[in-house]
Amino acid sequence: MESNNSKELKVSAIKDGTVIDHIPAQNLFKVISLLGLEKIPNAITFGTNLESKKLGRKSIIKVSDRFFEDDEINKIALVAPEAKLNIIKDYEVVEKRQVSLPDELTGYVRCFNPKCITNHEDITTHFFVVSKMPLALKCRYCEKVTTEEHMVIE
Ligand code: CTP
Ligand code: ZN
Repeated sequence: MESNNSKELKVSAIKDGTVIDHIPAQNLFKVISLLGLEKIPNAITFGTNLESKKLGRKSIIKVSDRFFEDDEINKIALVAPEAKLNIIKDYEVVEKRQVSLPDELTGYVRCFNPKCITNHEDITTHFFVVSKMPLALKCRYCEKVTTEEHMVIE
């Protein structure tokens, strides 16, 4: 399915679950962490540094028996704007969804303003997405805008 070239690595098909495809290779672990996949008991397989025409090198994650809500998954658009979700039921792809960044984001991203209260007290960050491309996040607390080049994801 993935490949008919026996020299390429292959990640097995799954029966039921979600395949998250077209993740930039270097952001695989960020996606795992954004989705909290390290904390769930489901079977998960992934491949990284796979060839992709669009991305050069891509990663793919296959989570068995797990179907995500849009707001659970859309935050991965931060690190994988072209990611595509494939919903698998009984080995068939029954639905494809493109991730898209939500209008507001809580947590995961640090405010780049060193004086911001979220960097000094135990307060979860909260941003309004003021631009998606290029990414710009306005802090609800200090109102400073964190751009892609200054973005630190926890
Ligand atoms: N897949 C899987 N298990 C299945 C069916 C599909 O793991 N039972 C995976 C495929 O390996 C692929 C992704 O789900 O990585 C999407 O499958 P498919 O739509 O068949 O592949 P493409 O047409 O290549 O997808 P794209 O839309 O990304 O071009
Ligand atoms: Zn702030």
